[in-house]
Amino acid sequence: MSQTSDLQGRVAVVTGASSGIGRAIALSLAQAGARVAVNHSSGGRSAERAQEVCQAIAAAGGQAFAVQADVSQEADVERMLQAVQARYGELDILVNNAGVEDPAPIESMTLEQWRRVIDINLGGQFLCARAAARAFMARFPEPPPHRPAGNILFISSVHEVIPWAFQANYAASKGGISLLMKSLAQELAPRKIRVNSIAPGAIRTPINRQAWETEEALRQLLKLIPYGRIGEPEDIGRAAVWLASDASDYVTGTTLFVDGGMTLYPEFRGAG
Ligand code: BGC
Repeated sequence: MSQTSDLQGRVAVVTGASSGIGRAIALSLAQAGARVAVNHSSGGRSAERAQEVCQAIAAAGGQAFAVQADVSQEADVERMLQAVQARYGELDILVNNAGVEDPAPIESMTLEQWRRVIDINLGGQFLCARAAARAFMARFPEPPPHRPAGNILFISSVHEVIPWAFQANYAASKGGISLLMKSLAQELAPRKIRVNSIAPGAIRTPINRQAWETEEALRQLLKLIPYGRIGEPEDIGRAAVWLASDASDYVTGTTLFVDGGMTLYPEFRGAG
């Protein structure tokens, strides 16, 4: 088995890949040699942006195609996996990235806000993981001796462990991903399907623009990051390539925090 980060010959689906972290992961996996299905949630701008990601991959000599699916919808997820298999014949890697924020103080958070975030961030990751697991098991009814049968990578957040006031729905969804990931890792390891998470900290993407777009906001944000810089989407792309590749073959059931030390309780440095 190859011990490099080479993804030549592998097929990956990346959900929520039209922007932000998902986009960077799609570009990084393609650069490492994978053929990539670039998922986007809807038409309009998100469809255009997904096309732009595919064009960037093609311009760099890689292969990709865009596929629309709302990951919270069972029928959409099934259709997406069928489209990937019809296009590339197989599936090796799922990157479960699509996610949203919808903040509100608890006293005014609506049930709709709660459900939307849980349905996309946690329900969507369940639906995609189940569809991928089914595809891996259909392809390899017995665990193959000399290669993995599949790889599932959850994109979680530092908020799977750091509580987040005014974002109870989001933090609950990410906390849920932690045990969803570990339970599936335990369940699927004997089938040679690896399951891991990346927990990004503050990464410069549209989802948290207000936290970095002004000098003052960035100064406040950096107080939470011991390493002294905001993360870039490529920081997550590189970690994803490693976890998706056979270079990490013995790693399963793990959350890799890529956060510049955000989870190290920086306010305790010299205090407490
Ligand atoms: C959120 C970002 C936030 C980061 C660190 C992420 O999961 O999506 O908005 O900046 O966590 O708090």
